[in-house]
Amino acid sequence: MLSQSEALLSSRDRLTAIAGGYRESLVIITSVEMGIFNAIGESDLDAVEISQTVGSDARATELLLNALTGMNLLAKEGDRFRLRQDAKDFLLPESENYLGDIFSHYLHMARGWIKLEDSVRSGKPVVQRKRSDERDDHDLRAFILGMQNISQVSAEEMADAIDLTGVKAILDVGGGPGTYLISLLNRLPQATGVLLDFERVLTIAEEQINEAGLSGRTELLAGDMFELELPKKYDLILLSNILHSHNERKNLRLVEKCVNSLTESGRLVIKEFFLDESHTSPKDAALFSLNMLLHADGGRSYSWNECISWMEQAGLTIVQKLKVGKSSGVLVGRKS
Ligand SMILES: C[S@@+](CC[C@H](N)C(=O)[O-])C[C@H]1O[C@@H](n2cnc3c(N)ncnc32)[C@H](O)[C@@H]1O
Repeated sequence: MLSQSEALLSSRDRLTAIAGGYRESLVIITSVEMGIFNAIGESDLDAVEISQTVGSDARATELLLNALTGMNLLAKEGDRFRLRQDAKDFLLPESENYLGDIFSHYLHMARGWIKLEDSVRSGKPVVQRKRSDERDDHDLRAFILGMQNISQVSAEEMADAIDLTGVKAILDVGGGPGTYLISLLNRLPQATGVLLDFERVLTIAEEQINEAGLSGRTELLAGDMFELELPKKYDLILLSNILHSHNERKNLRLVEKCVNSLTESGRLVIKEFFLDESHTSPKDAALFSLNMLLHADGGRSYSWNECISWMEQAGLTIVQKLKVGKSSGVLVGRKS
């Protein structure tokens, strides 16, 4: 048992680590953006060599490399640096578990987070959020491929866990990089999929779908999910990480629209960062609500029950409720 002064010290350390966490966050994200990990690759190089590859100041680069070494992402022998295993596994673009795109997206988000006070005082987003297809190329790729970086585990878990009996036609609404659709189609060799998103997003999704060998079974549908007319022919419609961008009224409208496009025994699958009824847990979902406050007019994380209520109002019966990935959930509703 900790003495009172030890407990005080440990609380003090915990709070200072949280409040100062931006430094480590920015060191890793900046290094990804500058291509530091890629420049080192499998070699061991000194700061001058690395700075020449990435086009930076040698002295400043050495300070950055020393900090990365202190964070256990690099190892340093003499004046030469090499990648440790975590950096090789997650920060080299050729790694199948690459996280660099989502880290670049976090940097984009951080520009909004620095103005959190403005948003909390005004209740309004601080960044006039661009539709995904209005972002510049770098930001768009970071956003869309970032979704792929963080969804691989939950997409596989979701596709393993939900009942796919009889599913032949799938619609993925706002499918982004197509990670979820790919996991579903891989389990359903007879099924076809439609990925609906904005045109420029579809060009990125197409790369992923081609790589997965699914171009013959996937149609890309460009347009706005709120405006496009959707045929009534899908056995499964997926809304993954869509509802947190919108207010309650728009969400109910979207859920109803999807239900109208389901076949008679079709199912709607909703994947989100669901909150419990206190709206405080899981912590990641509570923090994500602030992300949406900053970047979307009316969006936030929703609770399981809020989402269930939209699904039931639209005429669905909830048949599955699952946790997937680190802090996500999936609801499956079927037409009664
Ligand atoms: C947070 S991402 C989720 C991507 C994917 N469903 C996933 O879970 O990995 C939201 C996606 O919805 C798309 N989107 C947002 N609003 C849309 C709209 N009005 N019409 C079509 N797509 C939209 C975005 O372009 C983006 O690809």
